[in-house]
Amino acid sequence: MQTSTPVTQSSRSILCVVGARPNFMKMAPIMAALAELGPKLAVSLVHTGQHYDVAMNHQYFEALGIPQPDINLEVGSGSHATQTAEVMRRFEPALDEKQPSAVLVVGDVNSTLACALVATKKGIPVIHVEAGLRSFDRAMPEEINRILTDQISDLLFTTERSGRENLLREGIDDSRIRFVGNVMIDTLRRNLERAVPTSKILQDAGRKAFLAGHDGYAVLTMHRPSNVDNPDTLRILLDTIRKITSRLTVIFPMHPRTRAMIEKFGLGEMLNVPELVQLPPMGYLEMLGLMKDARVVLTDSGGIQEETTALGVPCITLRNNTERPITVDEGTNTIAGQDPVKILAAFEEIMQSGGKAGRVPEFWDGQASTRIAAAIHSWLDNGLRS
Ligand code: UD1
Repeated sequence: MQTSTPVTQSSRSILCVVGARPNFMKMAPIMAALAELGPKLAVSLVHTGQHYDVAMNHQYFEALGIPQPDINLEVGSGSHATQTAEVMRRFEPALDEKQPSAVLVVGDVNSTLACALVATKKGIPVIHVEAGLRSFDRAMPEEINRILTDQISDLLFTTERSGRENLLREGIDDSRIRFVGNVMIDTLRRNLERAVPTSKILQDAGRKAFLAGHDGYAVLTMHRPSNVDNPDTLRILLDTIRKITSRLTVIFPMHPRTRAMIEKFGLGEMLNVPELVQLPPMGYLEMLGLMKDARVVLTDSGGIQEETTALGVPCITLRNNTERPITVDEGTNTIAGQDPVKILAAFEEIMQSGGKAGRVPEFWDGQASTRIAAAIHSWLDNGLRS
């Protein structure tokens, strides 16, 4: 995809893509940094509509000041094949209409791969933010999305140094890779002061009295198919959480996939314990507030492993691996998988010692999006040559 003619200033345009909840907090600072380049670069936004509920979608645009999408593909839910194919089918005319100099995708959701694939097949260069992360677990749909998106990207931005090693091993040319840090942490730093206090969240949910006299709380998030789509695994995890509630209040904002699975498998009764607070999916500022003051966060999310490391809050990851090893090597993260013994041991350790101290990784300094905007600018100047 590399050319050597500089892209003329008047025709420079980037088409950014978002689709699902974890994309929004990554795209917000990137679009702001690109906008700061001024009229030299036209920036537009496509929303594939992979996530569509108010709680999973609109709240984030509002809270993070993301511009309204120029185009919404309204794809919605479906099997992996249906969802990916539908994004591709609907993205092609959007690309024909916009004719951008490059398409910028973030993260590892189905929309990321689908739009990257359409763009590259039409000869339009692809920029991937959050490239090179690998869990080495191909049963994870996101791992397939990561590997394939990176293979067809022209400019790859990494969040941690392990990303470059992974990309080089897969044959990606070093000249295409830029280590810039973590845009998600840009968003976190910018919004920390606006985080909604836990007391307000509980009050709004009618559970105000809940924390009175309690010794802090844990936050739980869980939505990965590997944790929630199998009834036995889900039952074991919920049972482990029940055990944790005998020591610490657990606040559980529930992803729609998880809620649907708990209903489907008839496990709702397991959540009927006084020390477990069920909440609907939270907005960004609410989630930040919950995490910031938690004694521990239990999660299977990738982004939350990073956010807790940046916040210095202990995190127990309910997966057998992580594509973000720096959160374990340098941060506050402990991998516990789905094994109750490991989860409860990690939890006890945190209750007794406060957990790993951790430090904030290199370039997680709030400036990643500025580095990305500068790199894109010079890449366009160089005729898309890395
Ligand atoms: C997707 C991403 C995952 C990310 C997660 C964050 C892929 C392969 N997975 O998983 O990496 O961590 O988003 O949330 O792209 N649903 C709603 N309302 C919505 C969206 C979804 O009710 O606004 C329900 C539907 O029942 C849907 C299910 O959630 O079938 C799953 O949605 P989907 O977008 O397929 O995947 P996620 O599990 O959200």
